[in-house]
Amino acid sequence: MRLQVLFAICAVALAAQEPEQAVNPRTSPEDIAAGAKTFHSHCSPCHGLRGEGGLGPNLANGRFYHGSSDLDLLNNISNGIPGTPMPGLFYSPDRVWQIVAFIRSLNAASTAKSAGDPNRGAELFKSKACVRCHRVNGEGGRLGPDLTHAGQTRSPEFLRQSIVDPNADVQPRYWVVRCRDGSGSEYEGFLMNEDTYTVQFIDIQERLHSFPKAELKEYRVEKTSKMPSSYKLTLSDEQIQDLVAYLSSLRAAGGDR
Ligand code: HEC
Ligand code: HEC
Repeated sequence: MRLQVLFAICAVALAAQEPEQAVNPRTSPEDIAAGAKTFHSHCSPCHGLRGEGGLGPNLANGRFYHGSSDLDLLNNISNGIPGTPMPGLFYSPDRVWQIVAFIRSLNAASTAKSAGDPNRGAELFKSKACVRCHRVNGEGGRLGPDLTHAGQTRSPEFLRQSIVDPNADVQPRYWVVRCRDGSGSEYEGFLMNEDTYTVQFIDIQERLHSFPKAELKEYRVEKTSKMPSSYKLTLSDEQIQDLVAYLSSLRAAGGDR
């Protein structure tokens, strides 16, 4: 019994590490319609009839600050967001999955109007070395976010902005820590955790570092992106459109959204 509980906890912990693995089981047109109904009665007062936002943020543009995987949405909707007006919804997971499916249908609608050629975009993704930092379907570097489901979780506007103005909206997970310890060694990595006395970050080789701040000679956190900010100058408008079309086409296999 106890082992089962432990197992369940491990499964949840693993799921939290690999959120992309949790696939929404309720995505049929009927599910989306049922999700829309619940959304209109429970969520629209704050998020608007089409998720366009009001007291709560826009949910239609595919831009989520509290996590953008399906599982993140499920958790945020079920549990609410502590310390904010966002309440928890005490419904069965199935009913919440239906709401997630409805939100995704809004995201997909805003994705549909992207111009550009996804095949040329796929070529550019390799030739412009995006793949050096980003993985798609397991292939590529790990410095930047995995883009395997970019089209499902991000609107074209968001993707476009990420390319031409990477510093506009950097998630805390990609804030850059620079520091020097007592022996003079310098470190750089992504901030994992920070409190008054200690800091933890993960470096480019994915090694975890933890320091008491008192031991550091120099310590700085920059909310800027490690992604090159020169694409606006080096890519043509057409190339950017092609890249956005390619990224927008990246969805979970078999999804018809
Ligand atoms: C009383 C107003 C209110 C209601 C009702 C409400 N929300 Fe929210 N919601 C908010 C606010 C405010 C936030 C932003 C919290 C923050 O980040 O400060 C939020 C955040 C969220 C987020 C996270 C957005 C992000 O950027 O990650 C999701 C998803 C969400 N709401 C979905 C829902 C759904 C689905 C429902 C209905 C079941 C719902 N909300 C009902 C006010 C509300
Ligand atoms: C040197 C590494 C590096 C290169 C090269 C790079 N990126 Fe990034 N990229 C990042 C990092 C780090 C982030 C996360 C910080 C941020 O939001 O800017 C990011 C963020 C993004 C995002 C936002 C992802 C999300 O969901 O938040 C997109 C889209 C993106 N990059 C596309 C591209 C494209 C297209 C190219 C090639 C033209 C490219 N990147 C080249 C490192 C890189």
